[in-house]
Amino acid sequence: MNFKTIIEPFRIKTVEPIRMTTREQRQVALEKAGYNLFALPAKDVLIDLLTDSGTGAMSSGQWAGMMRGDESYAGARSFYAFEDAVRLITGLKVVIPTHQGRAAERILFGAMLGKDDIVPNNTHFDTTRANVEYRGATALDIPIVEGRQPALFHPFKGNIDLQTLERLLEEKQEQIPLVMITVTNNSGGGQPVSMANIRAASELCHRFDVPLFLDACRFAENAWFIKIREEGYAHKTPLQIAQEMFSFVDGCTMSAKKDGLANIGGFLALNDEALAQRCKTNLILTEGFPTYGGLAGYDLEAIAVGLMEVVEEDYLRYRIRSVAYLGERLTAAGIPIVQPPGGHAIYIDALSMLRHIPQSEYPAWALSLALYLEGGVRSVEIGSVMFGLQPDGSEKPAAMELVRLAFPRRVYTQSHVDYLLEVLLYINEIKDRIRGLCIVEAPPILRHFSARLEPAHGRLLSEEE
Ligand SMILES: Cc1ncc(COP(=O)(O)O)c(C=O)c1O
Repeated sequence: MNFKTIIEPFRIKTVEPIRMTTREQRQVALEKAGYNLFALPAKDVLIDLLTDSGTGAMSSGQWAGMMRGDESYAGARSFYAFEDAVRLITGLKVVIPTHQGRAAERILFGAMLGKDDIVPNNTHFDTTRANVEYRGATALDIPIVEGRQPALFHPFKGNIDLQTLERLLEEKQEQIPLVMITVTNNSGGGQPVSMANIRAASELCHRFDVPLFLDACRFAENAWFIKIREEGYAHKTPLQIAQEMFSFVDGCTMSAKKDGLANIGGFLALNDEALAQRCKTNLILTEGFPTYGGLAGYDLEAIAVGLMEVVEEDYLRYRIRSVAYLGERLTAAGIPIVQPPGGHAIYIDALSMLRHIPQSEYPAWALSLALYLEGGVRSVEIGSVMFGLQPDGSEKPAAMELVRLAFPRRVYTQSHVDYLLEVLLYINEIKDRIRGLCIVEAPPILRHFSARLEPAHGRLLSEEE
Protein backbone atom coordinates (compact mmCIF):
# COMPACT_ATOMS: atom_id res chain seq x y z
CA MET A 1 0.00 0.00 0.00
CA ASN A 2 1.30 3.48 -0.87
CA PHE A 3 0.13 5.74 1.95
CA LYS A 4 -0.39 9.36 0.97
CA THR A 5 0.83 11.19 4.09
CA ILE A 6 4.34 12.47 3.65
CA ILE A 7 6.01 12.56 7.05
CA GLU A 8 9.11 14.21 8.44
CA PRO A 9 11.70 11.52 7.60
CA PHE A 10 13.44 11.79 10.97
CA ARG A 11 12.70 11.52 14.66
CA ILE A 12 13.74 14.14 17.17
CA LYS A 13 16.55 13.47 19.61
CA THR A 14 17.26 16.95 20.95
CA VAL A 15 14.68 19.67 21.43
CA GLU A 16 15.06 23.41 21.82
CA PRO A 17 12.23 25.27 23.61
CA ILE A 18 10.61 28.20 21.85
CA ARG A 19 8.78 30.92 23.75
CA MET A 20 5.37 32.51 23.40
CA THR A 21 5.26 36.27 23.93
CA THR A 22 2.27 38.59 24.27
CA ARG A 23 1.22 41.05 21.60
CA GLU A 24 2.19 43.90 23.98
CA GLN A 25 5.67 42.45 24.43
CA ARG A 26 6.05 42.15 20.68
CA GLN A 27 4.94 45.76 20.15
CA VAL A 28 7.68 46.92 22.55
CA ALA A 29 10.22 44.61 20.90
CA LEU A 30 9.39 46.08 17.50
CA GLU A 31 9.81 49.65 18.70
CA LYS A 32 13.16 48.77 20.28
CA ALA A 33 14.27 47.09 17.05
CA GLY A 34 13.54 50.19 14.96
CA TYR A 35 10.81 48.24 13.16
CA ASN A 36 13.48 46.01 11.65
CA LEU A 37 13.00 42.27 12.22
CA PHE A 38 16.74 41.69 11.76
CA ALA A 39 17.27 43.65 15.00
CA LEU A 40 14.97 41.45 17.12
CA PRO A 41 16.54 39.15 19.69
CA ALA A 42 15.71 35.60 18.51
CA LYS A 43 14.37 34.77 21.97
CA ASP A 44 11.41 37.06 21.23
CA VAL A 45 10.49 35.10 18.10
CA LEU A 46 8.17 32.09 18.24
CA ILE A 47 8.60 30.72 14.73
CA ASP A 48 11.64 32.02 12.93
CA LEU A 49 11.28 31.99 9.16
CA LEU A 50 13.71 34.84 8.59
CA THR A 51 15.96 32.57 6.62
CA ASP A 52 16.67 28.98 5.69
CA SER A 53 20.36 29.86 5.83
CA GLY A 54 22.43 28.21 8.55
CA THR A 55 19.29 27.53 10.57
CA GLY A 56 18.83 23.84 9.78
CA ALA A 57 19.02 20.97 12.26
CA MET A 58 22.02 18.73 11.87
CA SER A 59 21.68 14.98 11.85
CA SER A 60 23.27 12.46 14.21
CA GLY A 61 25.54 11.58 11.27
CA GLN A 62 26.71 15.17 11.01
CA TRP A 63 27.35 15.45 14.75
CA ALA A 64 29.33 12.22 14.60
CA GLY A 65 31.27 13.72 11.70
CA MET A 66 32.03 16.79 13.79
CA MET A 67 33.65 14.62 16.45
CA ARG A 68 35.89 13.22 13.72
CA GLY A 69 36.91 16.76 12.70
CA ASP A 70 40.61 17.04 12.00
CA GLU A 71 41.80 20.49 13.06
CA SER A 72 45.22 20.35 11.37
CA TYR A 73 46.08 23.70 9.84
CA ALA A 74 47.13 22.21 6.50
CA GLY A 75 45.94 19.11 4.69
CA ALA A 76 43.41 18.05 7.34
CA ARG A 77 41.61 14.75 6.73
CA SER A 78 38.35 16.69 7.03
CA PHE A 79 39.30 18.84 4.05
CA TYR A 80 39.70 15.76 1.86
CA ALA A 81 36.30 14.40 2.99
CA PHE A 82 34.81 17.79 2.12
CA GLU A 83 36.63 17.95 -1.22
CA ASP A 84 35.48 14.41 -2.13
CA ALA A 85 31.84 15.27 -1.40
CA VAL A 86 31.97 18.50 -3.41
CA ARG A 87 33.75 16.79 -6.30
CA LEU A 88 31.30 13.89 -6.32
CA ILE A 89 28.39 16.29 -6.73
CA THR A 90 29.92 18.98 -8.92
CA GLY A 91 32.68 17.20 -10.83
CA LEU A 92 34.59 20.51 -10.63
CA LYS A 93 38.37 20.29 -10.37
CA VAL A 94 39.39 22.80 -7.71
CA VAL A 95 37.47 23.05 -4.43
CA ILE A 96 38.07 26.09 -2.24
CA PRO A 97 36.35 26.21 1.17
CA THR A 98 35.07 29.56 2.42
CA HIS A 99 33.32 30.61 5.61
CA GLN A 100 30.06 31.18 3.73
CA GLY A 101 28.62 31.88 0.29
CA ARG A 102 29.33 35.59 0.14
CA ALA A 103 33.02 34.98 0.80
CA ALA A 104 33.10 32.71 -2.26
CA GLU A 105 31.39 35.51 -4.21
CA ARG A 106 33.80 38.16 -3.01
CA ILE A 107 36.83 36.05 -3.82
CA LEU A 108 35.56 35.02 -7.26
CA PHE A 109 34.50 38.53 -8.26
CA GLY A 110 37.71 39.95 -6.82
CA ALA A 111 39.64 37.76 -9.26
CA MET A 112 37.35 38.24 -12.27
CA LEU A 113 35.54 41.59 -12.26
CA GLY A 114 36.65 45.10 -13.08
CA LYS A 115 34.90 48.44 -13.32
CA ASP A 116 32.22 48.60 -16.01
CA ASP A 117 31.94 44.83 -16.32
CA ILE A 118 28.50 43.23 -16.44
CA VAL A 119 27.36 40.03 -14.76
CA PRO A 120 24.08 38.62 -16.14
CA ASN A 121 22.21 36.29 -13.76
CA ASN A 122 18.62 35.03 -13.63
CA THR A 123 18.37 37.09 -10.42
CA HIS A 124 21.23 38.09 -8.17
CA PHE A 125 20.78 37.41 -4.50
CA ASP A 126 21.40 40.57 -2.42
CA THR A 127 24.94 39.64 -1.31
CA THR A 128 25.82 38.56 -4.84
CA ARG A 129 24.57 41.86 -6.24
CA ALA A 130 26.42 43.81 -3.54
CA ASN A 131 29.66 41.95 -4.24
CA VAL A 132 29.37 42.59 -7.99
CA GLU A 133 28.63 46.27 -7.41
CA TYR A 134 31.44 46.54 -4.89
CA ARG A 135 33.82 45.83 -7.81
CA GLY A 136 32.26 48.71 -9.78
CA ALA A 137 30.51 46.24 -12.10
CA THR A 138 26.84 45.94 -12.98
CA ALA A 139 24.68 43.07 -11.70
CA LEU A 140 22.06 42.49 -14.39
CA ASP A 141 18.98 40.39 -13.63
CA ILE A 142 17.53 38.68 -16.69
CA PRO A 143 14.91 36.16 -15.57
CA ILE A 144 12.33 34.98 -18.09
CA VAL A 145 9.33 37.32 -18.21
CA GLU A 146 7.15 34.73 -16.47
CA GLY A 147 9.55 34.95 -13.53
CA ARG A 148 8.41 38.49 -12.79
CA GLN A 149 4.70 37.65 -12.70
CA PRO A 150 3.98 36.29 -9.21
CA ALA A 151 0.56 34.78 -9.92
CA LEU A 152 1.54 32.98 -13.10
CA PHE A 153 2.17 29.21 -13.07
CA HIS A 154 5.28 28.03 -14.87
CA PRO A 155 7.26 24.93 -13.93
CA PHE A 156 10.65 26.65 -14.24
CA LYS A 157 10.10 30.26 -13.41
CA GLY A 158 13.72 30.56 -12.32
CA ASN A 159 14.98 30.20 -15.89
CA ILE A 160 17.35 32.78 -17.31
CA ASP A 161 16.08 34.64 -20.40
CA LEU A 162 18.15 33.05 -23.15
CA GLN A 163 17.30 35.60 -25.84
CA THR A 164 18.39 38.50 -23.68
CA LEU A 165 21.51 36.58 -22.70
CA GLU A 166 22.37 35.96 -26.36
CA ARG A 167 21.86 39.61 -27.25
CA LEU A 168 24.05 40.70 -24.33
CA LEU A 169 26.79 38.29 -25.33
CA GLU A 170 26.62 39.45 -28.95
CA GLU A 171 26.74 43.13 -28.07
CA LYS A 172 28.87 43.26 -24.92
CA GLN A 173 30.87 40.07 -24.74
CA GLU A 174 34.12 41.85 -23.81
CA GLN A 175 32.40 43.39 -20.76
CA ILE A 176 31.04 40.05 -19.51
CA PRO A 177 33.70 38.06 -17.61
CA LEU A 178 31.15 35.50 -16.43
CA VAL A 179 27.45 34.62 -16.46
CA MET A 180 25.69 33.23 -13.39
CA ILE A 181 22.55 31.19 -12.82
CA THR A 182 21.12 31.00 -9.32
CA VAL A 183 19.51 27.67 -8.41
CA THR A 184 16.91 27.88 -7.15
CA ASN A 185 16.19 31.54 -7.85
CA ASN A 186 15.89 32.81 -4.29
CA SER A 187 15.11 36.47 -4.93
CA GLY A 188 12.73 35.49 -7.73
CA GLY A 189 10.58 33.32 -5.45
CA GLY A 190 12.69 30.19 -4.85
CA GLN A 191 11.80 29.04 -8.33
CA PRO A 192 13.73 26.27 -10.07
CA VAL A 193 15.76 26.40 -13.27
CA SER A 194 15.28 23.61 -15.79
CA MET A 195 18.07 21.39 -17.04
CA ALA A 196 17.23 22.51 -20.58
CA ASN A 197 17.76 26.13 -19.57
CA ILE A 198 21.11 25.44 -17.87
CA ARG A 199 22.22 23.40 -20.89
CA ALA A 200 21.19 26.11 -23.38
CA ALA A 201 22.79 28.90 -21.31
CA SER A 202 25.96 26.84 -21.16
CA GLU A 203 26.03 26.38 -24.94
CA LEU A 204 25.51 30.11 -25.45
CA CYS A 205 28.21 31.13 -22.97
CA HIS A 206 30.71 28.72 -24.40
CA ARG A 207 29.96 29.87 -27.97
CA PHE A 208 31.07 33.32 -26.80
CA ASP A 209 33.90 31.95 -24.69
CA VAL A 210 32.40 33.24 -21.44
CA PRO A 211 32.39 30.98 -18.37
CA LEU A 212 29.09 30.02 -16.74
CA PHE A 213 28.87 29.72 -12.95
CA LEU A 214 26.08 28.40 -10.77
CA ASP A 215 25.12 30.10 -7.56
CA ALA A 216 24.42 26.63 -6.24
CA CYS A 217 23.03 27.30 -2.73
CA ARG A 218 19.90 25.20 -3.34
CA PHE A 219 21.15 22.78 -5.98
CA ALA A 220 19.44 19.75 -4.39
CA GLU A 221 16.02 21.41 -4.22
CA ASN A 222 16.49 22.45 -7.85
CA ALA A 223 17.40 18.87 -8.75
CA TRP A 224 14.21 17.63 -7.09
CA PHE A 225 12.06 20.01 -9.14
CA ILE A 226 13.78 18.82 -12.32
CA LYS A 227 13.03 15.25 -11.26
CA ILE A 228 9.33 15.85 -10.73
CA ARG A 229 8.69 18.45 -13.45
CA GLU A 230 11.06 17.99 -16.38
CA GLU A 231 10.53 15.26 -18.88
CA GLY A 232 13.11 12.50 -18.84
CA TYR A 233 14.26 12.90 -15.25
CA ALA A 234 11.66 11.00 -13.19
CA HIS A 235 13.79 7.86 -13.01
CA LYS A 236 17.04 9.64 -12.12
CA THR A 237 18.26 10.20 -8.57
CA PRO A 238 18.66 13.76 -7.26
CA LEU A 239 22.42 13.12 -7.14
CA GLN A 240 22.53 12.15 -10.81
CA ILE A 241 20.47 15.20 -11.72
CA ALA A 242 22.71 17.49 -9.67
CA GLN A 243 25.77 15.99 -11.35
CA GLU A 244 24.26 16.72 -14.75
CA MET A 245 23.43 20.32 -13.74
CA PHE A 246 27.05 20.92 -12.71
CA SER A 247 28.41 19.23 -15.83
CA PHE A 248 27.30 22.28 -17.85
CA VAL A 249 29.12 24.90 -15.80
CA ASP A 250 32.69 26.08 -15.29
CA GLY A 251 32.34 26.75 -11.62
CA CYS A 252 30.05 27.54 -8.73
CA THR A 253 29.72 29.53 -5.57
CA MET A 254 27.94 27.80 -2.73
CA SER A 255 26.59 28.61 0.68
CA ALA A 256 26.67 25.32 2.60
CA LYS A 257 24.25 26.95 5.05
CA LYS A 258 21.48 25.94 2.67
CA ASP A 259 21.80 22.65 0.81
CA GLY A 260 24.99 21.80 2.70
CA LEU A 261 22.69 21.25 5.70
CA ALA A 262 25.30 22.96 7.85
CA ASN A 263 25.15 25.95 10.17
CA ILE A 264 28.12 27.66 8.56
CA GLY A 265 30.34 27.23 5.52
CA GLY A 266 30.55 27.53 1.80
CA PHE A 267 32.83 26.98 -1.15
CA LEU A 268 33.98 28.08 -4.51
CA ALA A 269 34.62 25.30 -7.02
CA LEU A 270 35.95 25.77 -10.51
CA ASN A 271 37.79 24.19 -13.41
CA ASP A 272 40.12 27.03 -14.45
CA GLU A 273 43.28 26.32 -12.47
CA ALA A 274 44.95 29.68 -13.15
CA LEU A 275 41.85 31.51 -11.93
CA ALA A 276 41.67 29.16 -8.94
CA GLN A 277 45.24 30.08 -8.05
CA ARG A 278 44.36 33.79 -8.01
CA CYS A 279 41.35 33.01 -5.83
CA LYS A 280 43.46 31.00 -3.41
CA THR A 281 45.89 33.89 -2.98
CA ASN A 282 43.02 36.12 -1.98
CA LEU A 283 41.62 33.34 0.21
CA ILE A 284 44.84 33.14 2.23
CA LEU A 285 44.71 36.89 2.74
CA THR A 286 41.24 36.96 4.24
CA GLU A 287 39.74 33.51 4.87
CA GLY A 288 42.58 31.14 5.67
CA PHE A 289 44.78 28.42 4.23
CA PRO A 290 43.19 26.70 1.18
CA THR A 291 42.48 23.46 3.05
CA TYR A 292 40.28 25.14 5.65
CA GLY A 293 39.28 28.56 4.21
CA GLY A 294 37.83 30.08 7.36
CA LEU A 295 36.18 26.89 8.61
CA ALA A 296 37.01 24.54 11.45
CA GLY A 297 37.77 20.92 10.53
CA TYR A 298 34.51 19.91 12.19
CA ASP A 299 32.57 22.31 9.94
CA LEU A 300 34.12 20.69 6.87
CA GLU A 301 32.99 17.28 8.16
CA ALA A 302 29.45 18.50 8.83
CA ILE A 303 29.23 19.81 5.28
CA ALA A 304 30.69 16.65 3.77
CA VAL A 305 27.98 14.56 5.46
CA GLY A 306 25.27 17.18 4.83
CA LEU A 307 25.94 17.23 1.09
CA MET A 308 25.22 13.51 0.95
CA GLU A 309 22.07 13.72 3.12
CA VAL A 310 20.58 16.60 1.16
CA VAL A 311 20.25 14.55 -2.02
CA GLU A 312 18.27 11.78 -0.30
CA GLU A 313 14.85 11.35 -1.90
CA ASP A 314 12.85 11.01 1.35
CA TYR A 315 14.33 14.24 2.61
CA LEU A 316 13.69 16.20 -0.58
CA ARG A 317 10.15 14.84 -0.97
CA TYR A 318 9.27 15.94 2.58
CA ARG A 319 11.08 19.26 2.22
CA ILE A 320 9.36 20.36 -0.98
CA ARG A 321 5.98 18.95 0.08
CA SER A 322 5.83 20.81 3.40
CA VAL A 323 6.36 24.13 1.61
CA ALA A 324 3.78 23.23 -1.06
CA TYR A 325 1.26 22.30 1.68
CA LEU A 326 1.36 25.81 3.13
CA GLY A 327 1.22 27.30 -0.36
CA GLU A 328 -1.88 25.32 -1.28
CA ARG A 329 -3.73 26.36 1.88
CA LEU A 330 -2.86 30.04 1.41
CA THR A 331 -3.96 29.93 -2.22
CA ALA A 332 -7.25 28.33 -1.22
CA ALA A 333 -7.78 31.23 1.21
CA GLY A 334 -7.13 33.77 -1.56
CA ILE A 335 -3.78 34.98 -0.20
CA PRO A 336 -1.63 35.90 -3.19
CA ILE A 337 1.68 34.04 -3.29
CA VAL A 338 4.33 33.50 -5.91
CA GLN A 339 3.07 30.51 -7.84
CA PRO A 340 3.84 27.71 -7.81
CA PRO A 341 5.40 27.49 -4.29
CA GLY A 342 9.19 27.50 -4.39
CA GLY A 343 11.58 25.03 -2.80
CA HIS A 344 12.63 26.61 0.46
CA ALA A 345 10.02 29.27 1.03
CA ILE A 346 6.62 30.74 0.40
CA TYR A 347 6.65 34.25 -0.99
CA ILE A 348 3.58 36.35 -0.29
CA ASP A 349 2.86 38.97 -2.93
CA ALA A 350 2.41 42.00 -0.69
CA LEU A 351 1.82 44.36 -3.59
CA SER A 352 -1.36 42.47 -4.50
CA MET A 353 -2.38 41.81 -0.91
CA LEU A 354 -1.91 45.36 0.41
CA ARG A 355 -2.97 47.47 -2.55
CA HIS A 356 -3.60 50.44 -0.26
CA ILE A 357 0.10 50.79 0.64
CA PRO A 358 2.25 52.51 -2.04
CA GLN A 359 5.67 51.02 -2.82
CA SER A 360 7.25 54.16 -1.37
CA GLU A 361 5.87 52.98 2.02
CA TYR A 362 7.21 49.44 1.71
CA PRO A 363 4.14 47.17 1.74
CA ALA A 364 6.09 43.91 2.10
CA TRP A 365 8.04 45.29 5.05
CA ALA A 366 4.76 46.34 6.66
CA LEU A 367 3.25 42.89 6.13
CA SER A 368 6.26 41.17 7.68
CA LEU A 369 5.95 43.40 10.75
CA ALA A 370 2.24 42.65 11.10
CA LEU A 371 3.01 38.92 11.00
CA TYR A 372 5.39 39.32 13.88
CA LEU A 373 3.14 41.60 15.88
CA GLU A 374 0.14 39.31 15.64
CA GLY A 375 1.71 35.85 15.63
CA GLY A 376 5.35 36.08 16.75
CA VAL A 377 6.44 34.86 13.31
CA ARG A 378 9.58 36.35 11.79
CA SER A 379 9.79 36.56 8.01
CA VAL A 380 11.79 38.75 5.65
CA GLU A 381 10.93 41.45 3.15
CA ILE A 382 12.25 40.97 -0.37
CA GLY A 383 11.14 44.24 -1.86
CA SER A 384 11.99 47.90 -1.97
CA VAL A 385 13.77 48.14 1.36
CA MET A 386 16.09 45.33 0.23
CA PHE A 387 16.52 46.37 -3.39
CA GLY A 388 15.19 49.93 -3.76
CA LEU A 389 18.38 51.83 -2.97
CA GLN A 390 20.47 52.34 -6.12
CA PRO A 391 24.30 52.57 -6.12
CA ASP A 392 24.01 56.30 -6.91
CA GLY A 393 21.87 56.85 -3.79
CA SER A 394 18.58 57.24 -5.63
CA GLU A 395 15.48 55.17 -4.85
CA LYS A 396 13.74 52.89 -7.35
CA PRO A 397 10.79 50.62 -6.47
CA ALA A 398 11.69 46.92 -6.59
CA ALA A 399 10.19 44.74 -9.33
CA MET A 400 8.19 42.81 -6.70
CA GLU A 401 7.20 43.34 -3.07
CA LEU A 402 7.47 39.93 -1.46
CA VAL A 403 7.41 38.59 2.08
CA ARG A 404 9.45 35.44 2.26
CA LEU A 405 8.62 32.72 4.77
CA ALA A 406 11.79 30.65 4.58
CA PHE A 407 11.79 27.20 6.14
CA PRO A 408 14.83 26.10 8.11
CA ARG A 409 15.70 22.53 7.13
CA ARG A 410 14.46 19.71 9.41
CA VAL A 411 13.47 22.17 12.18
CA TYR A 412 9.71 22.74 12.24
CA THR A 413 6.93 20.15 12.18
CA GLN A 414 3.48 19.99 10.67
CA SER A 415 1.80 21.66 13.68
CA HIS A 416 4.15 24.64 13.40
CA VAL A 417 3.04 24.99 9.79
CA ASP A 418 -0.62 24.77 10.83
CA TYR A 419 -0.11 27.49 13.47
CA LEU A 420 1.54 29.68 10.85
CA LEU A 421 -1.38 29.12 8.55
CA GLU A 422 -3.81 30.25 11.24
CA VAL A 423 -1.80 33.46 11.81
CA LEU A 424 -1.68 34.20 8.09
CA LEU A 425 -5.41 33.71 7.69
CA TYR A 426 -5.99 36.18 10.52
CA ILE A 427 -3.59 38.72 8.96
CA ASN A 428 -5.52 38.38 5.72
CA GLU A 429 -8.72 39.28 7.58
CA ILE A 430 -7.24 42.48 9.02
CA LYS A 431 -5.03 43.38 6.05
CA ASP A 432 -6.80 46.69 5.34
CA ARG A 433 -5.66 48.00 8.73
CA ILE A 434 -1.96 47.50 7.99
CA ARG A 435 -0.14 50.79 7.34
CA GLY A 436 3.13 51.66 5.57
CA LEU A 437 6.51 52.72 6.91
CA CYS A 438 9.27 55.20 6.26
CA ILE A 439 13.02 54.79 6.68
CA VAL A 440 14.57 57.05 9.28
CA GLU A 441 18.15 55.79 9.20
CA ALA A 442 20.02 53.47 6.80
CA PRO A 443 23.55 52.58 5.68
CA PRO A 444 24.50 53.06 1.99
CA ILE A 445 24.59 49.34 1.09
CA LEU A 446 22.57 46.28 2.19
CA ARG A 447 20.39 48.68 4.14
CA HIS A 448 17.71 46.14 5.06
CA PHE A 449 20.02 44.49 7.60
CA SER A 450 20.34 47.56 9.81
CA ALA A 451 17.94 50.30 8.70
CA ARG A 452 15.66 51.88 11.31
CA LEU A 453 12.09 52.56 10.26
CA GLU A 454 8.93 53.95 11.76
CA PRO A 455 5.24 53.79 10.88
CA ALA A 456 4.51 56.44 8.25
CA HIS A 457 1.07 57.14 9.73
CA GLY A 458 1.56 56.94 13.48
CA ARG A 459 1.01 53.20 13.95
CA LEU A 460 1.54 49.91 12.19
CA LEU A 461 -2.10 48.87 12.36
CA SER A 462 -4.91 51.37 12.30
CA GLU A 463 -7.66 51.05 14.92
CA GLU A 464 -10.50 48.63 14.30
CA GLU A 465 -13.51 50.36 12.81
C1 LIG B 1 21.00 32.53 -3.73
C2 LIG B 1 21.98 32.93 -2.65
N1 LIG B 1 23.23 33.25 -2.99
C3 LIG B 1 24.13 33.59 -2.06
C4 LIG B 1 23.81 33.64 -0.73
C5 LIG B 1 24.87 34.06 0.27
O1 LIG B 1 25.24 33.00 1.10
P1 LIG B 1 25.77 33.27 2.60
O2 LIG B 1 24.62 33.76 3.40
O3 LIG B 1 26.28 31.94 3.06
O4 LIG B 1 26.86 34.27 2.52
C6 LIG B 1 22.52 33.34 -0.34
C7 LIG B 1 22.14 33.41 1.09
O5 LIG B 1 20.99 33.47 1.46
C8 LIG B 1 21.57 32.96 -1.33
O6 LIG B 1 20.30 32.63 -1.02
